[in-house]
Amino acid sequence: MFSRLARPSQIIFVARKHFSTSSKTLPDSTCIGPWNDSKVAVLGAAGGIGQPLSLLLKQSPLISHLSLYDIAHTPGVAADLSHIETRPKVTGHMGDEQLADCVKDADLVLIPAGVPRKPGMTRDDLFNTNASIVANLIDSCAQNCPKAMIGIITNPVNSTVPIASEVLKLRGVYDKNRVFGVTTLDVVRSNTFIAEAKGLDVNKVFCPVIGGHSGITIVPVISQCSPSVSFPQDQRAAISVRIQNAGTEVVEAKAGAGSATLSMAYAAAEFANSLLEAMNGTEGKVQCAFVASDETDAKYFATPVLLGKNGVEKNLGIGHLLDYERKLVTAAMDELKSNIEKGEEFVAKQFKK
Ligand SMILES: NC(=O)c1ccc[n+]([C@@H]2O[C@H](COP(=O)([O-])OP(=O)(O)OC[C@H]3O[C@@H](n4cnc5c(N)ncnc54)[C@H](O)[C@@H]3O)[C@@H](O)[C@H]2O)c1
Repeated sequence: MFSRLARPSQIIFVARKHFSTSSKTLPDSTCIGPWNDSKVAVLGAAGGIGQPLSLLLKQSPLISHLSLYDIAHTPGVAADLSHIETRPKVTGHMGDEQLADCVKDADLVLIPAGVPRKPGMTRDDLFNTNASIVANLIDSCAQNCPKAMIGIITNPVNSTVPIASEVLKLRGVYDKNRVFGVTTLDVVRSNTFIAEAKGLDVNKVFCPVIGGHSGITIVPVISQCSPSVSFPQDQRAAISVRIQNAGTEVVEAKAGAGSATLSMAYAAAEFANSLLEAMNGTEGKVQCAFVASDETDAKYFATPVLLGKNGVEKNLGIGHLLDYERKLVTAAMDELKSNIEKGEEFVAKQFKK
């Protein structure tokens, strides 16, 4: 359906910096247009994802201001990053009273704030803590950067994206094309596992993942992988189930010390760089993301989306599925719809200001 697009621009930039004799010169091909002065805010910036994500973003030539917020430790993280000899200015903001300043006029806000899973927990178990964290952060975005693109990393993504959307609707600034649940890690994992299984160059593998971002709602579409790959059905099922449970693989390996942080930071940076490049006028940037959608009877559904200056330019849809993949989608729908409703009900009942 579509081919694997360029690898994350931060990697390209690092390579250029290290191999160029004029390392302070910005890469000209990526620095045209009004968005190369982007202000990017990371909320939850001192956490396991927030720190490496901020480090990767600090390498982006498209960002002029990297604005970091957390309830603790942000001054230290910001001071540390600010010594790196790359373009973005870094500011640190800590505590409620500094949130507005952090997000003021941001072009892109990435949210990894909140608690991660411990062994034995589902993503939905995080709802009680993370729902109000996301709602409050988005409320500040609605007031201080109503036009910003918003990338939600905080789990349960199937519910936190509807929460963010409902808060933005309440404040009268909702634009469905600007709110993304970041599901890039599911694609990153699929690419890795498929490349390993088939002995392919992982840089050239792209496997779309649709549905949601928890357990059975994660639906890898291996039949649309580029390059085309084929598996006997038992292997296709085994890889699909591994992709669905890959987050739990990491949670168990970390044995109580959290969930995926480094791979998630990489994935979020890939998503952010694609979006920033698209906002800057680069055509053909495609990412899978959990967005408001008419593809199924769930109000939000992850599919590949074409990114543009205003966020989602075109939803590329589900495409043709094998019977096995169609069954995975069917199996996902009840849980997905109930996760979405739970998020919407939370805002309707509990988010009053
Ligand atoms: N979308 C995905 O694919 C994906 C993958 C992995 C993890 N996650 C989710 O990302 C979230 C963060 O994971 P982590 O490993 O970085 O956790 P972490 O505990 O290491 O970091 C979370 C950070 O959020 C901060 N925080 C808490 N309340 C806050 C608030 N009100 N405002 C601002 N910051 C606040 C904490 O101080 C902490 O620094 C979790 O919900 C996790 O489940 C998502």
